[in-house]
Amino acid sequence: MLSAVCKSLVSSTARQLRAFHRPAAACSDKLFVHRDEPNNNSETPFEFSAENIKRSEVIIANYPKGHEAAACIPLLDLAQRQNDGWLPISAMHRVAEMLKMPRMRVYEVATFYTMFNREPVGKYFVQICTTTPCMLGGVGSDVILEAIKENLGIGVGHTTDDNMFTLAEVECLGACVNAPMVQINDDYYEDLTVDDMHRILNDIKAGKKPKAGPQSGQNFRFASEPKTGLTSLTEPPTGPGFGVRADL
Ligand code: FES
Repeated sequence: MLSAVCKSLVSSTARQLRAFHRPAAACSDKLFVHRDEPNNNSETPFEFSAENIKRSEVIIANYPKGHEAAACIPLLDLAQRQNDGWLPISAMHRVAEMLKMPRMRVYEVATFYTMFNREPVGKYFVQICTTTPCMLGGVGSDVILEAIKENLGIGVGHTTDDNMFTLAEVECLGACVNAPMVQINDDYYEDLTVDDMHRILNDIKAGKKPKAGPQSGQNFRFASEPKTGLTSLTEPPTGPGFGVRADL
């Protein structure tokens, strides 16, 4: 017979376990299996443009013979850029054919990385990082995410009716020091406040190109240096590649 204290412990542990063991599909805005759609099936027309064929030949030539599969990510990226930001399964098949890889190996890559979109996205693909440093840093990514939803009127995994914006929630994008941050197409916007987020989205809607990088209010920092100024590496670097040292 369990005591009241034990029962309460068991029940609170069960609650915590449930929180930790949510099924993957409930935690993601993507489905990781392919379902044929009228605009996305093996027959969907896809062919690299002549220019991108040349590019892919240069990329493949970077790798030793027999290791062409190493070009899988850059070729998928090339295909996605050519195809308005998303990868139909027929483009994956074309990449598999060019690299002499089993199709399954290409599917594995395309489903693993959030940089590959397997369904159409808006002209501006907004990816918000909600991993721990961004969640805790500055304002907190939860607050920024709410600002994006409010501004665009869509939820995570959705595209605006005018096909301008798609919103995705992603894991760390490698700019943790400047948290919170979002990536919009190829640009990072960092050190965000709610006002910054609205300004950036409103500028894009107005056809402007907001300045990428740290936002930081009045005191824009260049990269990830302390906002209060450098405390180390304050002199120009010396040594190989940086000119001749005076003492040599
Ligand atoms: S945790 Fe957000 S960029 Fe690393």
